[in-house]
Amino acid sequence: MKKLIGTIIIGLSLIGGNATAADKLNVVCSAEQPWCDLMAKGFEKQTGIDVSMVRKSTGESLAQIRAEAANPKIDIWWGGTGDPHLIAASEDLTQASGIDTSDLLGWAVNMSTISEGKTVGIYAGALGVAYNRELLAEKGLKAPSCWKDLADVSYAKEIQVANPNSSGTAYTELATFVQLFGEDEAMSLLAEIGKNVNQYTKSGSAPSKAAARGETTISIGFMHDMVTLASSGFPLEIVAPCEGTGYEVGAVSIIKGAKNLEAAKKWVEYSLNADVQSRSVEVESYQVPSNSKATVAPESPDLASIKLIDYDFATYGSTETRERLLKRWDRDVKNVAKN
Ligand code: G6P
Repeated sequence: MKKLIGTIIIGLSLIGGNATAADKLNVVCSAEQPWCDLMAKGFEKQTGIDVSMVRKSTGESLAQIRAEAANPKIDIWWGGTGDPHLIAASEDLTQASGIDTSDLLGWAVNMSTISEGKTVGIYAGALGVAYNRELLAEKGLKAPSCWKDLADVSYAKEIQVANPNSSGTAYTELATFVQLFGEDEAMSLLAEIGKNVNQYTKSGSAPSKAAARGETTISIGFMHDMVTLASSGFPLEIVAPCEGTGYEVGAVSIIKGAKNLEAAKKWVEYSLNADVQSRSVEVESYQVPSNSKATVAPESPDLASIKLIDYDFATYGSTETRERLLKRWDRDVKNVAKN
């Protein structure tokens, strides 16, 4: 009898355990913090599922997901540039969500096609340059209009950009330079520009925030992050470089072995919903949404009017290419900057 009661208690606690597991979701978020928070709150309200969230840059998130592969603590990786999401997919660190992509724009579906459904696009944004017009005038500097201008000696220690090992924004820049100029020329140009860099930050949006506050004159980053700052009144001017520029497709992925799989699938569905994507303006996030029925904010940089390269996501979203480029960047760009 005692054995029977024990079995019933264990059985009940297992059922209880499953019920609790379905009511929570662990998310790593690689977009801006206010948007991460809005997404978590909205999802909790709609589903009753508790969200526990941390913000990490894209490269850092990939490193965490790799390190935890045997026992994942994260269920969902939402936001951040798409290349590391594609890499996670190819390393079998994420799993297909089975989501219907019929309302999504081509560039978002492309991520799903490359990864066999393991990641999908949620937003897009172009890379650019910003400068603080007050500082620029004070220092008597010319406004840059091309990537190559950034190597000019007059900009010594005036430029800030993120480190591509941690930041997806800076990896997009590295991949963009390689696609525009070829690998060798890209590395020499980045090394030349590196002489003008005052700091390589961990997160991709930090340099433009620093330019907005007047802590650096020039920043490299995503134009939509620059728009957020300029439209809040900071003296930032935004430049679409004359040679053309690269762009990101921000993505969402379910981690392989996710302990809260059903909740994770609900998150993917939630984050692709047109009404949910349209809410990003509430937190001044001005990426272009991936759902064709979502509202594009008037502030969003118009991708059709920017000279965009035909960014090769399959190549630059592969482990081999990223590892090779990061190694070269560490050796030829970062270390040179220190000299
Ligand atoms: C900002 C942008 C996002 C981008 C992210 C990448 O949050 O608004 O569009 O995906 O940066 O962050 P990271 O720190 O990895 O460069």
